[in-house]
Amino acid sequence: MSETHVCTCSAQGANPYVPMSMVIERIVDETDDRTIKSFDLVFADEEEARQFQYTPGQFCELSIFGQGEAPFGIASSPTEEGFVRFTVKKAGVVTSKLHSLKPGDRIGMRGPLGNCFPLELMRGKDIVVIGGGFAFTTLRSLIVYLLESGERDAYGKIIVVYGARTPGLLMYQKDLEAWETRDDIEMWQTIDIQAPGWTRKVGFVPAVVGEVKPSAHNAIAVICGPPVMIRFTLPVMTELGFGKDQIYTSLENRMKCGIGKCGRCNVGNKYVCLDGPVFSMAELDELPPEY
Ligand SMILES: Cc1cc2nc3c(=O)[nH]c(=O)nc-3n(C[C@H](O)[C@H](O)[C@H](O)COP(=O)(O)OP(=O)(O)OC[C@H]3O[C@@H](n4cnc5c(N)ncnc54)[C@H](O)[C@@H]3O)c2cc1C
Ligand code: FES
Repeated sequence: MSETHVCTCSAQGANPYVPMSMVIERIVDETDDRTIKSFDLVFADEEEARQFQYTPGQFCELSIFGQGEAPFGIASSPTEEGFVRFTVKKAGVVTSKLHSLKPGDRIGMRGPLGNCFPLELMRGKDIVVIGGGFAFTTLRSLIVYLLESGERDAYGKIIVVYGARTPGLLMYQKDLEAWETRDDIEMWQTIDIQAPGWTRKVGFVPAVVGEVKPSAHNAIAVICGPPVMIRFTLPVMTELGFGKDQIYTSLENRMKCGIGKCGRCNVGNKYVCLDGPVFSMAELDELPPEY
């Protein structure tokens, strides 16, 4: 049985189905194909802004009036005050409408929802962050938090491996550049095949993890990315000595209510929206085999 982790983050007020009104303050194209945008949201209500407290790894349900609601991981860190960021890939009804909105437009937000990354377990340990593609959203939140919460000394080394198909598909370019210049984080960026002007790693994320060889000793790893990336990274981590209780991931099952009521997200006896979305590999092993 793996160690469990709890979050001390506050949920929103009286009726969890009623969204808070949020104003889009800023929209940033994260990738050169313009399919992924970050939305910085500010609260229309100051009291709701004051009460909203979250921890890296949590998510919210965003609603577009007349279109519907969908879950998104929080990409900002609690250390970044004054806005809440979501990075959204254009996929279907809700995300396409969201992509058509402009600064000043209003949307709804419910949350924060779900559990979070195991920050307490991470204290005193090295932290290995492995991300692929646009699943880097909550990993950004985690990294910014670890670096900027004023407790950098509470954690050991921070090693990040982040990959995308092409340089233009790596998100949060300004953050990546800033992290590369720091000596308290080890940053490895990789792309699938060589591109003009690219001077960093080339190769799939699992292969680069195998080259970087992060030590499993007193370490916790968080892996978020496409299922195929996770599938091929896990044997590399095992080879490096990481146990299943040292590796965490975040699931993106389909959800509806986000608060453990509708049963849309459950796997075995777990509600991904309540018990997750963050699980250790040891916890996932205990779920039904078809999962
Ligand atoms: C906890 C959690 C965190 C997430 N974080 C992010 C994030 O940070 N950024 C982001 O861009 N997306 C994230 N997602 C995925 C996001 O919720 C879906 O892309 C979104 O629901 C699509 O809504 P839509 O109305 O635009 O698409 P729809 O019109 O509902 O569907 C469009 C297509 O996408 C498929 N689809 C919809 N939802 C999912 C899903 N969960 N898994 C697989 N296929 C799906 C549909 O079957 C359909 O083919 C997250 C999901 C979860 C559960
Ligand atoms: S989404 Fe409704 S129970 Fe999880």
